[in-house]
Amino acid sequence: MAEDFLRDAVKGIKDYVPGQTPKEPGVIKLASNENPFGPSPKALEAITKEGKNLQIYPDQKSLFLREALGKKLNVGEDAIIIGNGSDEIMQIAAATFLKPGEEVIIPENTFSLYEFVTRIFDGRLVFVPLKDQAQDLEAMAKAVTPKTKMIFICNPHNPTGTMISAKDLEDFLNKVPNNILIIIDEAYMEFAESKEFPDSLKYVKNRKNVLVLRTFSKFYGLAGLRVGYGVAKAELTKYMFRLKPPFNVNRLAQAGATAALDDKAFLDKTYKNNLEGKKYLYAELDKLGLKHEKTEANFIYIDLKRSADQLFLDLMKQRVIIRPLTSFGLPEAIRVSIGTKAQNEKFVTALTGLLKA
Ligand SMILES: Cc1ncc(COP(=O)(O)O)c(C=O)c1O
Repeated sequence: MAEDFLRDAVKGIKDYVPGQTPKEPGVIKLASNENPFGPSPKALEAITKEGKNLQIYPDQKSLFLREALGKKLNVGEDAIIIGNGSDEIMQIAAATFLKPGEEVIIPENTFSLYEFVTRIFDGRLVFVPLKDQAQDLEAMAKAVTPKTKMIFICNPHNPTGTMISAKDLEDFLNKVPNNILIIIDEAYMEFAESKEFPDSLKYVKNRKNVLVLRTFSKFYGLAGLRVGYGVAKAELTKYMFRLKPPFNVNRLAQAGATAALDDKAFLDKTYKNNLEGKKYLYAELDKLGLKHEKTEANFIYIDLKRSADQLFLDLMKQRVIIRPLTSFGLPEAIRVSIGTKAQNEKFVTALTGLLKA
């Protein structure tokens, strides 16, 4: 079909580059920051039970899940909107609020969906470079113009794992005019170890221009189920509900996510494993002389100072899949998800062998 058949916005959109999926048994995937223990067992049990109701459409607004989340987060359920992954909430937010030509401030070298949703709705992209692998909030605040409509913040930051502290976030929120929607993507917040990590829901309560995004894909082990959510003042979510596809979250997803919220044993195990894995990987990377960032997430950013694509291919041959960050604009860096102890050791053995070869 001729290119001139397309909307202009579509021409500028690049295909999404996902982590590679293992095609044979025995290959380990440390490329998409998934939970190395599989799905929450309580979620699995609930999904199996819910299977017998699949002839019935799902609840349009995921009521039970919103009630359960509301209790857990101590916010009213009107403040919560559930999506087919948090990706979908980003798209709904842009569809609801972004007018063509309005500016969207995004950190450089970040999760690609922010650019994607901006482009879909003909927003103007304003990229702000990272500073020492972290988001430069001062520069982001300076990038605000009368045309700015949205700002995306990713905390902890994918792919570098760095954090914005409560104090820095608060200073930033105080600087930015309150007619700009600040979207704080916290896909990895449950893994954060630092005491300085912000309680962003506090800002949702105090301000009408903050939307916090979270997901069941990472900590809860449910990436394949596709459930994420947004939390904002009800005066924002009520318009987002209008733009939400009616049955966007299926019955299995609603049941599974609700059950996963209470799966304390699984969540504790996941958190503890991540802490231990990160300590182990820091130590091994230090021994190899590789520069890496301190992470508040379930992945580690490693600055290779050589071709990430080549290392990716070499590691694939050793049956380990990691994420080269070329598609993030960082061709000499990789991101490695923290796996089980055995997976982390396999990665380190493979990497050591390649670096010494
Ligand atoms: C920063 C960030 N936000 C959002 C997502 C998407 O999450 P979901 O699976 O809920 O769409 C990801 C997934 O990799 C991510 O890294």
